Amino acid sequence: MYTMNARDWIESHKNKLPAHELEWILEACLKLTRAEIYLDTQLVSEQGLGRAEHIVHQRIAGKSLQHLLGKTIFYGREFQVNDSTLIPRPETETLCEIALQRINNEPSDEIKVAELGLGTGCMAITILREDPRTSVYATEILPTAIDLAKVNALAHGVENRLQIFQVPQAIGFEGLLPLGPFHLIVSNPPYLDKNDPITAEVLKNEPHSALFPVSDDPMWFYENFLEYASRLLLPGGRGLLEVPHNRADAILARARKHDFYAAVYNDLFGRPRVLEVLV
Ligand SMILES: C[S@@+](CC[C@H](N)C(=O)[O-])C[C@H]1O[C@@H](n2cnc3c(N)ncnc32)[C@H](O)[C@@H]1O
Repeated sequence: MYTMNARDWIESHKNKLPAHELEWILEACLKLTRAEIYLDTQLVSEQGLGRAEHIVHQRIAGKSLQHLLGKTIFYGREFQVNDSTLIPRPETETLCEIALQRINNEPSDEIKVAELGLGTGCMAITILREDPRTSVYATEILPTAIDLAKVNALAHGVENRLQIFQVPQAIGFEGLLPLGPFHLIVSNPPYLDKNDPITAEVLKNEPHSALFPVSDDPMWFYENFLEYASRLLLPGGRGLLEVPHNRADAILARARKHDFYAAVYNDLFGRPRVLEVLV
C-alpha cells in the first residue's frame, strides 16, 4: 500500500533532520536514486515509510546515520560499516589520494603496501582496486572489524591481494616487521587525547579502541612508526599517516628529529592532516 509522495515525506521531516540525511534514508529504505525520490509520481510504501521513520527516530537519539544504514561511501565506492569500526572519514580520502599518487609513480611490477589499523578496509581496498600491482598486508586488533573488512574485500573482488593479521593492542608497527619491507605504509591510527574536544556522537558511536591509543599517549603510534620506519620501508619507501590537526606540527617536528624527510599535507578543509615520511 502506498501512502504519500517521497518528496512530501522529506518536506514533512525537515524540522527533524537535514534534507541530505532524509534523502540518504529514503534512498536506502526504498532503494531509490536521489533523482527518483523527487519524481512527482514517486510514492513511499507503508513498509518503506515504517523503516524510514524508525531510522529517523534512532538518528535523532544520536546514532550515526552510517551505522543505521550499515554503509558509507569512501573514495566513490560503497563500504559496509558496523559498530566495530570507525566510519571512514573524508580526511582519510585525502591520505588515500596521496598514497595513490605515490603508487602511480612507483615503477615496480609488484608493490607491497602495509596498513596498521585496517578497520572497514576502506583504505587498503581502495588501493587494491585502484592499482592491480599492489598487495596489502594489514594489521587489526578487533576480530569483528577483520570480519567486516573481509566482507568488503570480497565485495570489491580484492580478497586475494589482502592479507590480514590480528595483533594485540599493545603491538604497533613492529608487528609488520616480519612481513616487510614495504614500498608504502599507510595508517590512520587511533590518535585522540582524552582532553581533545570530541563530540558526544563520536564517543557514543565509534569504538574507543579506534579513537584512543592503548597507552593513552596520543603521540605513541607516531613515535612507534618513526622508530621502525627505516626497517619497515624499502630504500625510497614512504609512510603516510593521518595526524590530528592540533598535533600535526609536533608530529612533523618529531619526524624531522629522526632525520627523515617529512612533510604534512592539508585535507579538503585546509587542515594539516597527512604526514609523509620518506626513508
Ligand atoms: C582510526 S581507525 C582507522 C580505520 C580505517 N583504517 C579508516 O581509516 O577508516 C583505527 C583502527 O586501528 C585499529 N587498531 C587500534 N590499535 C591497533 C593496533 N595496535 N594495531 C592494529 N590496529 C589497531 C582499531 O581497531 C581501528 O580499526
